[in-house]
Amino acid sequence: MSGDNLLNVAGIEKEGSDTIFSWFARYQTAKKQGKDAANGTVGALLEDDGSLAINRVVDEAIRNAPPVEISAYAPLAGLPDFLDLCKTLAFGDVREKLETLGFNFSSTASPGGSGALFLAANNFLERGQTALLRDRYWGPYKGFLQNNGQDYVTWPLLPKEPDTNHPYFAKDEFETQLDSLCSNQDKVMVWLNDPAHNPTGLSMTREGRSACLNSFVNSAIKNEKIGHTLLIDSAYSLYAAEPHAWADTILEEIEGGLLWPENLLICVAVSLSKSHTIYGLRTGGLVCLHPDKAVTDRLDTVMSVTGRQSWSATPRVGQYSVSKMHSSQEGGDAWALERDRLKNLLDDRRKSLIEECQKRGVALNPTMDGFFAWIESDDSASVAEKCAEHDVYLVPLNGGIRIGLCALATKDMPKVAEALKIAMG
Ligand SMILES: Cc1ncc(COP(=O)(O)O)c(C=O)c1O
Repeated sequence: MSGDNLLNVAGIEKEGSDTIFSWFARYQTAKKQGKDAANGTVGALLEDDGSLAINRVVDEAIRNAPPVEISAYAPLAGLPDFLDLCKTLAFGDVREKLETLGFNFSSTASPGGSGALFLAANNFLERGQTALLRDRYWGPYKGFLQNNGQDYVTWPLLPKEPDTNHPYFAKDEFETQLDSLCSNQDKVMVWLNDPAHNPTGLSMTREGRSACLNSFVNSAIKNEKIGHTLLIDSAYSLYAAEPHAWADTILEEIEGGLLWPENLLICVAVSLSKSHTIYGLRTGGLVCLHPDKAVTDRLDTVMSVTGRQSWSATPRVGQYSVSKMHSSQEGGDAWALERDRLKNLLDDRRKSLIEECQKRGVALNPTMDGFFAWIESDDSASVAEKCAEHDVYLVPLNGGIRIGLCALATKDMPKVAEALKIAMG
């Protein structure tokens, strides 16, 4: 192929994955042709009229930034106030309680949650090792791992045998995969996008989180020579009913006597893209929790050096403006009001889709929070094609169809459910 003699082996392997954009383009074409098309393709939150939803309080905070905060580099690790804010965004009120209990946090700014995921891949597993992801996972995970010479295996989204105690966590399958990784490598790393999962909208229950955490900690205790890192990807969690669900579970378990072995680390990949609607400003961070300050201090150094070696510093203006906004009660409350307005858009759309699907017997996957809903299908491409014949544009992915509640309007839901009924028929 062209360029083969210029590209290295890893470069040659890279192929375009433009499914989402190509389906968006098809929606746009249909619109131009005058069709009453519904857009469930885009992964950003849109108002009901199709324009990008913007948190007005964040927008104002950015516009009020002095020129120097826009132009200057940020410190390599990130602005101190922002690093502090990341800990609170990741752990909410629980943060202080954990600190009182003697826990420590590292915090490093990154270009979005994507940067935080890259920092984790780059530092927690060796090249040639395998990460554990939940199926379904956000497509780019694969690339972040591959670019660090890592592979991955998965455990299923839902248990095969429904478990009434925690219907949304496949404990047996998780433990089997973890055991198998522990018998092959000296470090394990799990990436878990919860609550408000992309692409399904699933949120694990408190019981599910507790079971997952206990399985992971027990594995760390049993395999004391094997580093155990659990990374919670919180990209959509500030739109969930329980935004700090993992922090709550971690604290509850610690207060209930959970032992924290030295080889256990819990990280949160923070993204401000959705929560603060600053997708393009590339603002996020990696926050890591451990009882030993020497460990978190070391991580602070390692992560900021990795950032320096990968993208230099993270953009400054988002860090500055958002931390300034959250530094006053007023600013934080105003942001939260706007966030609630945007969350209501998602809640209304989700409620309507669930109802319309139920009326028609369409088997939507469990979906509670965040930007998406999902239908499993072995033939997602042809389901999406059939939906398009009825002017409904969705995204066919591996194993199912992603329904962008973030992009659709509430009034679209009967039409979406009807198209799915015919297409799945
Ligand atoms: C599951 C998930 N994690 C992380 C991200 C990171 O987003 P960003 O790099 O824009 O912060 C996204 C964005 O779409 C996502 O869907």
